[in-house]
Amino acid sequence: MRASGVVLVVLIFGHLFVNLVAPEGGVHALNFAFVAGKFATPFWQWWDVLMLWLAFIHGANGMRTLVNDYVQNATVRTVLVAALWIAAAVMIVLGTLVVFTFDPCLGVTSDSTLWEMCQAAA
Ligand code: HEM
Repeated sequence: MRASGVVLVVLIFGHLFVNLVAPEGGVHALNFAFVAGKFATPFWQWWDVLMLWLAFIHGANGMRTLVNDYVQNATVRTVLVAALWIAAAVMIVLGTLVVFTFDPCLGVTSDSTLWEMCQAAA
């Protein structure tokens, strides 16, 4: 928990700085194109995926500690801890798929502002 906590400090505060502080215009620069640009860059894909994995593993493991501390019935404890890991696994798989398969042109039609850019990229 302490090791993942240290890495999470770097990942989370780096994430907040790069998304909300560093861009010209600050938080107002954050839009679909900004995120699409980041997801087109392997560095930010891996940054976000690492943050996702660590936050869910750290968070689920931390919640496991709380459940084990407070839930007295063994069956309920097992069910809750299993539910935690299943939820974390589902979110990790879905989130990782989203980050690595994200395509800003998916479903774009001619009335979209992305149409010309997507036509040129096709
Ligand atoms: C800045 C980033 C973070 C740092 C530095 C950090 C650090 C820590 C540390 C050192 C512990 C262990 C405490 C102990 O041993 O008693 C802990 C526990 C925990 N963390 Fe984090 N964490 C961070 C982010 C997160 C995030 C994003 C989540 C949720 C997704 C989370 C959820 C938890 C939970 C549920 C516990 C268990 C609390 C307990 O045992 O009482 N943490 N955290």
